[in-house]
Amino acid sequence: MTFWRFSAAEDLRGDWFFPTEVRFGAGRISELPLILEHLGIRRPLIVTDRGLAATPIPNRVTEIAASASIPILWPGADQNPTGQQVTEGVAAFHLHEADGVIALGGGSGLDCGKSVALLAGCGGDLWRFAYPRSLEHQHERTTVPIIAIPTTAGTGAEVEASGIITDPLKPVKAGIVNASMLPRVVIADPELTLSLPPNLTAWTGMDALSHNLEALLVRQFHPMADAIGAEGIRICHAFLPRAVANGGDITARSYMMAAAIMGATSFVKGLGAMHALSHAIGALVGAQHGLTNAVLMPHVLRFNRPAVEKPISELARFLELDASFDAYLAELMELSRRVGIPARITEIGVRRQDFERLATMALPDFNAGCNPRPLDQPALVSILEAAS
Ligand SMILES: [Fe+2]
Repeated sequence: MTFWRFSAAEDLRGDWFFPTEVRFGAGRISELPLILEHLGIRRPLIVTDRGLAATPIPNRVTEIAASASIPILWPGADQNPTGQQVTEGVAAFHLHEADGVIALGGGSGLDCGKSVALLAGCGGDLWRFAYPRSLEHQHERTTVPIIAIPTTAGTGAEVEASGIITDPLKPVKAGIVNASMLPRVVIADPELTLSLPPNLTAWTGMDALSHNLEALLVRQFHPMADAIGAEGIRICHAFLPRAVANGGDITARSYMMAAAIMGATSFVKGLGAMHALSHAIGALVGAQHGLTNAVLMPHVLRFNRPAVEKPISELARFLELDASFDAYLAELMELSRRVGIPARITEIGVRRQDFERLATMALPDFNAGCNPRPLDQPALVSILEAAS
């Protein structure tokens, strides 16, 4: 039994107000001028990443915004945006005398845009908002309004009050956290994901799965998040192979875009070892985030098995599999195979001699503390060894 009764683009739309205002549906990018007017934004800075800047999407969004405002496009974020790039984005914001930010892209453009809005409003040094220092600065709030427009279905950064920014000097991928980073309005238009190539569709989709899955397994009382996470997992298993096989499948694209939002909604509980290690690998090697999570996923599940056997068995039952850990693991491995995920982290640039260092980097990550089975240095190294 599933609840998926919709397949036509005109039915796959809605106005949602959880966890923020989400205008969901194909073609709804056309509502951007109206939203700019509602929020009183006259001079938006459109922040996006260099990868997306090579596609027609940023210019199209800029043209649409120009019917109601004087926008300027700032495509300065890398795949893993840095603190320096946030500072440069803030300079562009002030130079343009901007009064709002349109964060456009996958996680890179969205996280950079939200961080630019935070720092443009609050001034000073970005790193005071890096977790755990961020806890002392939650009283600071930016008043710069943010509109988020995702162009991938994975990160869920469009509905998050945080962003991942790299400090290449350490190196570390820091979580920039502030309640005022939550976008005021999200335009979730699955048509913007139609041209995403199969590999990026797979990697970002596996990121959405990892969010729903890791969040579901965090030991914390939050039935709302758990329900969203379980359904998000089910959607990923059903629709990600379709989106990878046929990028023009608007039904699959729509459900995956919803699953990405669901993942980020449910991970208010936290994440786990997949993300702790993935952030370390991203900072050291620069590997794509969703791909890294995907490669680590079965190995982290196996490590966590003593602590998650029961919820994973229940999840398997929910997916109409045999109610066992092994049944879900087999389903996950089959999904990975179908969407082309490599089996080993050594295939994505991780070297054995870096395992100890990666474990040292991953241990203080916020998500390491949420893992259902306690983590220490040897445990993290053992996961990396199993994945190599
Ligand atoms: Fe992620």
